[in-house]
Amino acid sequence: MPSAIVTGATGITGNAIVRHLLKDSSYTKIYTLSRSQPSVQDARVEHACLDLQASAEEMAKGLAGVSAEYIYFCAYLARDNEDEAARVNGALLSSFIKALEITGATKKLKRFVLTCGLKHYGVHLGLPKQPLVESDPPLEDSLGGHQWPPNFYYTQQNILREAAARGNWEWICTLPNDVIGFAKHNFMNEATALGLYCAVSKALPGSQLIYPGNKVNYFINNCWTSAELHAQFCLWAATAPGAGNNIFNVTNGDTQSFQSLWPLLAERFGCTIPENMFDPATTEGYKDEATNVELKNNNPISVHAKTMGIADDPVNSRSPALRLPIDPQKWAQRKDVHEAWNKLKGKYNLDQAAWDKATWGFLTFVLGREWGCVASMSKARKLGWSGYEDTWEAFDRTFDILEKEGIIPPVGQLKYDY
Ligand SMILES: NC(=O)c1ccc[n+]([C@@H]2O[C@H](COP(=O)([O-])OP(=O)(O)OC[C@H]3O[C@@H](n4cnc5c(N)ncnc54)[C@H](OP(=O)(O)O)[C@@H]3O)[C@@H](O)[C@H]2O)c1
Repeated sequence: MPSAIVTGATGITGNAIVRHLLKDSSYTKIYTLSRSQPSVQDARVEHACLDLQASAEEMAKGLAGVSAEYIYFCAYLARDNEDEAARVNGALLSSFIKALEITGATKKLKRFVLTCGLKHYGVHLGLPKQPLVESDPPLEDSLGGHQWPPNFYYTQQNILREAAARGNWEWICTLPNDVIGFAKHNFMNEATALGLYCAVSKALPGSQLIYPGNKVNYFINNCWTSAELHAQFCLWAATAPGAGNNIFNVTNGDTQSFQSLWPLLAERFGCTIPENMFDPATTEGYKDEATNVELKNNNPISVHAKTMGIADDPVNSRSPALRLPIDPQKWAQRKDVHEAWNKLKGKYNLDQAAWDKATWGFLTFVLGREWGCVASMSKARKLGWSGYEDTWEAFDRTFDILEKEGIIPPVGQLKYDY
């Protein structure tokens, strides 16, 4: 009869974990924590509005009587600056653990599951070695002869390891890639921005769905992580024998690419794809919306350059860059795009906040980079994990939910139940 604590319960990953815990009748009590109220209501769920930025002593007062065998930590505060992200997100985690140590709740704890992500491998910095495997060294100190920016996942993992060593419990760290999912009032996800781009493209004259990213990006292989599958993974990892004190990649288990997804998106949203999408003539009218920026990092693959025999190879030495014929962040500011969105919003009573808070910058990065991110699932599979989700189905299901929630316009018959 275990109980669980979920922090960040209103976010994309946390909300899915709460729903999956509710599907598991063995969990008798689920404590959910966040500053706002969660959308999930159930007799087994007890929510506390708690600010994890408070001091451990202050937090301990709000956590009186709250203890569990399993903790799922999904609280997250986005920061543009890497130093600040490490400071803020490190503090969220360390104060929370200290608060549980003060109340004595850690005595009951068996496993603490922390959600991190594939940025663990520096996929946001440049080309990494692929597939990404958990034994790859963290990009810290002067690994490979380069200085690497701070990474808040390393800060959090160090905090977690030290705390587990102090207590009598085990830690797990999950590394999902771009998460496909939905959480109410949270518009910061790839599916929302993609869905809005497609819906407005349909409403523009010609209904053409032009790929805003670069041609290399269109053809590279990638992996994604469904929020549902990630939740199932977290529940599995909490109790799987031998899984404790480990980091795990968590991806859907298929390999996908925009060369396959784009035609599916066009069909779903009723658009056509231009015959020669990467001909500059196709994006002639979007010259002001192009982006070409070099990132000031080394490619993470450079750490392996000598072993791989590519020390002076352009694959290793070329500066990573973001290149987009149509940068979604600039596209979303265009007058014709705004007018099309306003018409859709009026006709279907859509949520303006979804447009205002859509993470266009996330799309700029995901579609503008010239490298893919494919992670191996071997480590978890060797321990018995057999979960799988089809990436397109995860997108399609999420678009159905976004339609139901009035974030993107309806395009026809909904296929999935939520
Ligand atoms: N989303 C993705 O595509 C993605 C991909 C890979 C990895 N990840 C990683 O997954 C982890 C979880 O991110 P997410 O995407 O699930 O985040 P999210 O959707 O932005 O949710 C963040 C959660 O944290 C809570 N929170 C924020 N500040 C808080 C505070 N001061 N006190 C208490 N609760 C607070 C928020 O609730 P309130 O605002 O109500 O407090 C919300 O429930 C992060 O490490 C992220 O980097 C995410």
